[in-house]
Amino acid sequence: MKTVLLEYFCYTVLNVIVVVLVAPAWVTYHSQVTLTGKKSIVIQTTYEDGWKLTPHSLAQAVERQAQPYENKLVIFTNPGNPSGQVYTAEELRELAEVFRKYKMIVVSDEIYSYSTYDDTDYVSLSKYFNNHEACAEYMKHCTRILHAVSLFCSR
Ligand SMILES: Cc1ncc(COP(=O)(O)O)c(C=O)c1O
Repeated sequence: MKTVLLEYFCYTVLNVIVVVLVAPAWVTYHSQVTLTGKKSIVIQTTYEDGWKLTPHSLAQAVERQAQPYENKLVIFTNPGNPSGQVYTAEELRELAEVFRKYKMIVVSDEIYSYSTYDDTDYVSLSKYFNNHEACAEYMKHCTRILHAVSLFCSR
């Protein structure tokens, strides 16, 4: 998956100016963004929020930027590693509204979709944030979902 993501960064999102990372995140993401030379914003999630990105923390981090509407790519992980958090459908729907408002591209790392704890229902962000037409034309308003053979096979 690292290779896919790096290639995605290098060849597909040349017009992205800022990459938004949600911490804690998979360890290589920050270095991968550094390699692309893009600016990054790190949004730190908290225990109180269940280690989840909230619409409020996302909007607040974006609004703090000099140009909130400049092209942004968000790397979003659901279910999470290391915290194991799983976003509910309602949480994803609310986040999607903010992604849409700021015209963000989202790379949704869903490699643990087959490995949730308990019987938690996993829902893909793409259910609430997808627009194939816009993706094809502008590479905006859309979700890219990444999987990894290694983790798919380990379930
Ligand atoms: C959330 C998450 N994303 C990405 C990866 C990396 O996947 P790969 O080793 O296929 O690059 C891992 C590996 O454990 C992971 O936990």
